[in-house]
Amino acid sequence: MEHPVPPQPSHVPVLYEPILALAASASRVVDGTLGHGGHAAGFLGAGATVLGIDRDPEALAIAQARLGDERMRYLQASYASPAALAAVAEFAPDFILLDLGVSSRQLDDPGRGFTFRPGAPLDMRMGPDVPTAAEWLNSVERDELVHAFREWADERRAPRLADEVIRRRNRGFTTSDDLVNAIRAVLGARSGPGDFARIFQAVRIAVNDELSGLETALPALRDALVPGGILAVISYHSGEDRLVKHTFRDWSAGCTCPPAFPQCVCGRTPLGEASPRRAIVPHEEELAANPRSRSARLRCFHRATAP
Ligand SMILES: C[S@@+](CC[C@H](N)C(=O)[O-])C[C@H]1O[C@@H](n2cnc3c(N)ncnc32)[C@H](O)[C@@H]1O
Repeated sequence: MEHPVPPQPSHVPVLYEPILALAASASRVVDGTLGHGGHAAGFLGAGATVLGIDRDPEALAIAQARLGDERMRYLQASYASPAALAAVAEFAPDFILLDLGVSSRQLDDPGRGFTFRPGAPLDMRMGPDVPTAAEWLNSVERDELVHAFREWADERRAPRLADEVIRRRNRGFTTSDDLVNAIRAVLGARSGPGDFARIFQAVRIAVNDELSGLETALPALRDALVPGGILAVISYHSGEDRLVKHTFRDWSAGCTCPPAFPQCVCGRTPLGEASPRRAIVPHEEELAANPRSRSARLRCFHRATAP
């Protein structure tokens, strides 16, 4: 039976074709990062029933207006929250997608403060359940600042930048200019958009607790899949991609006994297979049409058919 595909927004969702090919035979799909429903529109068009989750109430409202309620369910929560993980387990999906990070609409909305454009509020929240970037910068412990700048911005002057942030707290962090000025004070006058983007992204990851949420959720999402189901994750940050790659590789491993052992004593069997082994990346046409897709990496885990 043919199902109508709701109209797509101005550009096609990242890695749309590979995702739809992977989900071609799926009938119960969880889209854990619904955004504006670009991928979800494709799942609906292929005849699936979809549970769409997003942390951002605005994104959810836009998706709902576009996708309607037929074969669609909506949940406003982080996909890593206990409520969402329980809803996903109950839904018993055969395909789960996480398309991580922020949407173009969130990035382009000056009021959300995800970018370093002058005078933007230091907000960066994907949903109402976390502190704003300003609150975080004004209050967090030095160790957390150092960790965020070092781990998620690869910033070798992370301790100096953390000290500079703390020194400037007496004036208070309110707008993007306050953070840009702190970065300039440490990285020098030659620091530029690339440095600001990197450090703003690290603050966003910290504020929204993005990596620990992902780490918590991955095993629960895997276990929620029916046997043979697929977990697909698109990441845009090397730290996220590393976490997904190592997790999927670990789940795919069988016996870990030393080769000298005459027989297996660990009893470990693979939970499924990471396939394809390499990340899927956008092809040139997609990159040309949507330059923001350049850092996208898609990895998939196929849950074993028998437990
Ligand atoms: C890259 S966009 C997804 C775009 C979507 N695939 C589409 O086709 O429109 C990422 C979305 O995930 C949401 N998001 C990010 N982290 C989340 C989390 N932990 N739980 C739920 N939603 C999250 C963001 O609010 C944003 O709307």
